[in-house]
Amino acid sequence: MGRDVIIACDFNSAEETFKFLDNFKEEKPFLKIGMELYYAEGPAIVREIKRRGHKIFLDLKLHDIPNTVKKAMAVLSNLDVDICNLHAAGTVAMMEAAKEGLTRADGTRPLLIAVTQLTSTDQASMEADLLIKEPIDEVVMHYAQRAKEAGLDGVVCSPLESSKVHERCGNDFLTVTPGVRFADGAKGDQKRVMTPEEAKKIGSDYIVVGRPITQAADPVEAYRRCVREFVD
Ligand code: C5P
Repeated sequence: MGRDVIIACDFNSAEETFKFLDNFKEEKPFLKIGMELYYAEGPAIVREIKRRGHKIFLDLKLHDIPNTVKKAMAVLSNLDVDICNLHAAGTVAMMEAAKEGLTRADGTRPLLIAVTQLTSTDQASMEADLLIKEPIDEVVMHYAQRAKEAGLDGVVCSPLESSKVHERCGNDFLTVTPGVRFADGAKGDQKRVMTPEEAKKIGSDYIVVGRPITQAADPVEAYRRCVREFVD
């Protein structure tokens, strides 16, 4: 899979989701389904979106003992999604078990990427709550490297970290980056943002874009603008 724009479908019902997707008559955008929508509607919504011809990044961020994650990943793999993810903090053993669970009998599997340190965690909370004293940038890179060693395909990270991750883990290690805004658009609650064009320059493989598309007056045009700036 090459560079692509993934729309974050942060809706809380199938009805809202399909109302949004029905705007798209020509394109079949790559979609991210997160916890909110998945817990509201279950695997049925994944099957229906897949049936409509979209690729899916199922953003459920698994984190449990290796055996449990392995079995859960096997179930998600049967849903035929394209990308799954987990927390790198679950250890290399958990990441390896996840990859094993995800691999189907014929050897194929969805891509598997890791969340490093959530962007909602800062240096102070990492030190106070997790007792991790290293600089947060170093912690993020360490998690990325361990994910690579576990055989994962990439990480979710800030576009500002993409080039550093590629330097450390290689150019074929995928960076999937949220926090994207148009130059003339609202930032919302995102603090450190980049435009699709900048994300392309810096080497992000996929950008995850939510509100700049879902809340746009013309979502199809906003999606096309992202594709023009990031992919073309
Ligand atoms: O609406 P917006 O473009 O900010 O949506 C970004 C999406 O990426 C949301 O689904 C959000 O949960 C997700 N995300 C993020 N920052 C991270 C990890 C995930 O914004 N560090």
